[in-house]
Amino acid sequence: MRVLVTGHLGYIGPVVVSALNEAGHDIVGLDSGLFRGCALEPSAEVPTIARDLRDVTPDDVSGFEAIVHLAGLSNDPLGFLDPALTHEVNGAATVRLARIAREAGVRRFLNSSSCSVYGAPEEPWVDETSALRPVTPYGESKATAEQGLGQLVSPSFCVVSFRNATAFGYSPRLRTDLVVNDLASGAYLRGEIRLNSDGSAWRPLVHVRDIARAFVLGLTAPSTSINGAILNVGADAQNYTVIEIARAVSEIVPGARLTIAEGAGKDRRSYRTRFERVRNVLPDFSCAYDLRTGIEDLLANFRRLDLRSTDGLVRLAHLQRLIAGAEVDASLRPRVLAA
Ligand SMILES: NC(=O)c1ccc[n+]([C@@H]2O[C@H](COP(=O)([O-])OP(=O)(O)OC[C@H]3O[C@@H](n4cnc5c(N)ncnc54)[C@H](O)[C@@H]3O)[C@@H](O)[C@H]2O)c1
Repeated sequence: MRVLVTGHLGYIGPVVVSALNEAGHDIVGLDSGLFRGCALEPSAEVPTIARDLRDVTPDDVSGFEAIVHLAGLSNDPLGFLDPALTHEVNGAATVRLARIAREAGVRRFLNSSSCSVYGAPEEPWVDETSALRPVTPYGESKATAEQGLGQLVSPSFCVVSFRNATAFGYSPRLRTDLVVNDLASGAYLRGEIRLNSDGSAWRPLVHVRDIARAFVLGLTAPSTSINGAILNVGADAQNYTVIEIARAVSEIVPGARLTIAEGAGKDRRSYRTRFERVRNVLPDFSCAYDLRTGIEDLLANFRRLDLRSTDGLVRLAHLQRLIAGAEVDASLRPRVLAA
């Protein structure tokens, strides 16, 4: 299948591209290149459309059978940088892309959404039927996108939103602003596992390769079983509190000290998520990587690459640097578009 992967130069992107290549698909990427120069090592090269999502034209999407949509401003701290911009990119531009794709004859649109839409729920466990209570512009923007995309579903345009749990694990374009990757890299580099909250918040976790697996399966699942679906992606057994994640890291990186930042309070975003629906709709889906194997694999890669710092691996800090150096404008459009 000829597939356009947006955001293929992000954290999840290269892992998805490898998995789709392995499954025999023909991939083209589309990305504005906000993290150019941040890769830890090369990954599979694919033809690339260097374009901002907000400027996509019908020509960019015509001829593709499916789009896997990953591009966006990913994570809560980044979402706070400019909430209106977060809504513009993650919400409006996502729905616009899907509308253009539908008009151009693309038949399937797989949207990378997030469990952050659950935010601060009133119930102890959430599933896809639970009310959405996002507590950040990022979570709100993902909920808006899902809603707008839902209105584009038709028998000839299959739309699925994958609500991924918090991703972890190694990617050639690693991010260390995700809880597991952050704690594991801090333990490895500084011998410190530093919590910026009291550690009581619940987070469902999913390994980046398991996210990729869900997208691979979603591409070929029968439209009759998947069209219009919203699917949490993760595993019931991988709901952890942040302090549990910290303890798992400390068991695997002996000697690393657990510290809690001064004045650290509760994280409002906290939820435990059920993942029954994805197993029903995509029967071949299950999570192959648990927290422990994911941390061990991260450490093996840190050692292999002789990782010395997290420069370029923290999204907000990287983009603030680009803004300060006028390499992107205030609306995060790169001065020079390049992959
Ligand atoms: N990482 C997670 O834990 C997680 C969890 C759930 C959902 N998601 C979602 O999955 C998707 C991918 O996440 P990620 O962690 O790989 O993100 P990332 O920040 O690592 O990568 C995003 C990519 O999108 C590109 N991009 C950003 N704005 C763009 C624009 N306006 N036009 C074109 N390209 C643009 C960036 O250049 C980057 O390569 C995002 O939609 C994110 O919200 C991520």
